[in-house]
Amino acid sequence: MKKVSFAEFGGPDVLRLVDAEEPHAGPGRIRIAVRAAGVNPVDWRIREGQVLGAHPVTLPSGVGLDAAGIVDEVGEGVEDVEVGDRVFGEGTDTYAEFAVLGAWARMPEGLTFEEAAGYPSVMETALRVVREVGVRPGQTLLVSGASGGVGSAVLQIARDRGIRVIGTAGAANQEYLRGLGAVATTYGEGWVERVRRLGGVDAALDLAGSGVLRELVELTGDPERVVTIADLGAPEFGVRFSGVAGSVPAALAETVDLIARGRLHIPVEKTYSLAEAAAAHVDSQAGHTRGRRVIIV
Ligand SMILES: NC(=O)c1ccc[n+]([C@@H]2O[C@H](COP(=O)([O-])OP(=O)(O)OC[C@H]3O[C@@H](n4cnc5c(N)ncnc54)[C@H](OP(=O)(O)O)[C@@H]3O)[C@@H](O)[C@H]2O)c1
Repeated sequence: MKKVSFAEFGGPDVLRLVDAEEPHAGPGRIRIAVRAAGVNPVDWRIREGQVLGAHPVTLPSGVGLDAAGIVDEVGEGVEDVEVGDRVFGEGTDTYAEFAVLGAWARMPEGLTFEEAAGYPSVMETALRVVREVGVRPGQTLLVSGASGGVGSAVLQIARDRGIRVIGTAGAANQEYLRGLGAVATTYGEGWVERVRRLGGVDAALDLAGSGVLRELVELTGDPERVVTIADLGAPEFGVRFSGVAGSVPAALAETVDLIARGRLHIPVEKTYSLAEAAAAHVDSQAGHTRGRRVIIV
């Protein structure tokens, strides 16, 4: 089978499309014929060797955590899906023709493979940080970096729960944030004052890691009301860095429910072929993805 692989840590040019042995589903796992693989920033962080503590890598290594496709092998003990089912979920080396998943759910009616591949990691992260920041219905949540994959999910989870959101994004994404129910403003020079004019803030999420934790603590008045997923300087400000994944099956079940109720849609910014994986990483690393980028297999 074809698979994207890298033999050394480095830039996007270390990615190669290679012929590889097909993986097989061990106990408690399934194998899918991959139709689409989600591109997450963690994919290129792993490729660069940045996050080896959380994601240990043996070289040569495949790439990709998220995928959607058709079940074609069911491991011992798996009873909730059968060969032929359409599923999406999280696994290993998903930029490939076949991949093994450790967490999955049946795809909701009407969802395409390319859309489905964008949800798993983004939704696990978004549900986790909304829980950890402790914001309640009727309160206001400030989201710094609201237009990316995780931001798009946070805004829609918040809207569904009756949480008011003020989101920051680039000028090109202001209407996009409003379409997801948020009050929008731009980041950059003067952003703190712009946010203040929009009202009080009960809690804040830093999703972009753009060096704004001091300001988020000022705006909320309490470091315990701030959570970041992207700024390793968090301890200096007494802010929680959220890095330990919660239950992926639970996140997928909530994702299916939100989609079925018409409350969640994460757009696909652009699709790529397996051979274009390096271009997908270059584009993701540029840091301005709206929704998710997806590799079509
Ligand atoms: N710790 C964890 O568990 C965890 C989990 C998932 C992701 N992450 C990390 O969290 C970050 C976000 O992930 P993602 O998947 O949402 O990324 P993404 O889809 O690539 O989104 C990046 C977003 O950042 C925004 N942005 C760029 N510069 C900004 C700035 N100066 N101020 C505010 N926003 C800015 C962009 O908005 P515009 O396009 O509007 O400029 C873009 O929408 C990544 O660094 C990722 O590695 C961590």
